[in-house]
Amino acid sequence: MDIVVSGVRPTGNLHLGNYFGALKSFIKMQEEHHCYFFIADYHSLTTHPNPADLHGNVKTVLVEFLACGLDPEKVTLYVQSDLPETAELYLLLNMNAYVGELERCTSFKEKIRSQPQNVNAGLLTYPTLMAADIIIHRARMVPVGKDQEQHLEMTRTFANRFNRLYNVDYFPEPVAFNFGENLIKIPGLDGGLKMSKSDNENSSIFLADSPEMIRKKVMKAVTDTGAVDPAQPRSQGVKNLFDLMGYFSNADTLEHFENSYRSGSIRYGDMKKQLAEDIILFTTPFREKMEALYADEPYLRKVAAMGAEKARASASKTVREVREIIGFKPF
Ligand code: ADP
Ligand code: TRP
Repeated sequence: MDIVVSGVRPTGNLHLGNYFGALKSFIKMQEEHHCYFFIADYHSLTTHPNPADLHGNVKTVLVEFLACGLDPEKVTLYVQSDLPETAELYLLLNMNAYVGELERCTSFKEKIRSQPQNVNAGLLTYPTLMAADIIIHRARMVPVGKDQEQHLEMTRTFANRFNRLYNVDYFPEPVAFNFGENLIKIPGLDGGLKMSKSDNENSSIFLADSPEMIRKKVMKAVTDTGAVDPAQPRSQGVKNLFDLMGYFSNADTLEHFENSYRSGSIRYGDMKKQLAEDIILFTTPFREKMEALYADEPYLRKVAAMGAEKARASASKTVREVREIIGFKPF
């Protein structure tokens, strides 16, 4: 039983890629480990969201996590800003984080490029806040994608530096638990390799999309331009369509369209119609659960309160011990 921590920034709805790439693993991990999953709303302030959007996005992520099957009885599911202990540990870690190393962080350099008008100190210290999130529960495993590896490396640096500075063996070294090995990558509808809302919103089908919306998006998916020649390698768009069928349709359906592709008689319109219906079949139970959860404010309040309480039990113990190690002692 390891301690596991992961957070997601509240940026809107989850798409099929998020579900297969992240949520499914969270759900599996909740059976095997001691998990803390949180909604990283402090982190999202670097982009200055308006208050109504911020609250709405936090609610969306909470609802969608629950609809996907995260069980608040099994995991500690909380909102980051409900745990101000994180902010205290962040302050303490900032004293031992060097401006030079923070400036060298790839994600910071990328933000300087992409939003030069808003290079705030929160962006610079994003990695110390993320380290605080993780080590506040003294976690060993952090399920994240490849893009977070450098942040994890910095978390290890800060944890080790604290241990060395105070000559203690207090914080364990957390490692990125990469879904990388058995990587599932859901392709996009735009002919791209990956469904991603940050690259191209049109590539994505969201779990919350209505059946009409799913039909519309799938029918517009990129395929071949010319005549089908089964002897030629498939275009990326066509390959994506077959891959998606592999995830969402049954084996007979896939086989049927494979055969019609090979015989040169395939009609992509028919294939897309079928794929859309199969995706709708898959997402409908999620959408129905989401609708029920959105309407159940008292339950959401209960879940968030329960998560905050469980997270606080672990975090306040760490902060108390860290204060003592540092030399903050009561008179
Ligand atoms: P996006 O690329 O849409 O902005 P995020 O970067 O917020 O998505 O990803 C959140 C989580 O979902 C990460 O753990 C990431 O690895 C996973 N994920 C995102 N897109 C895909 C995809 N197409 N296939 C599999 N996993 C994905
Ligand atoms: N930085 C992560 C992202 O952009 C989100 C995050 C914040 C996180 N704190 C974390 C992930 C702690 C894992 C652990 O996706």
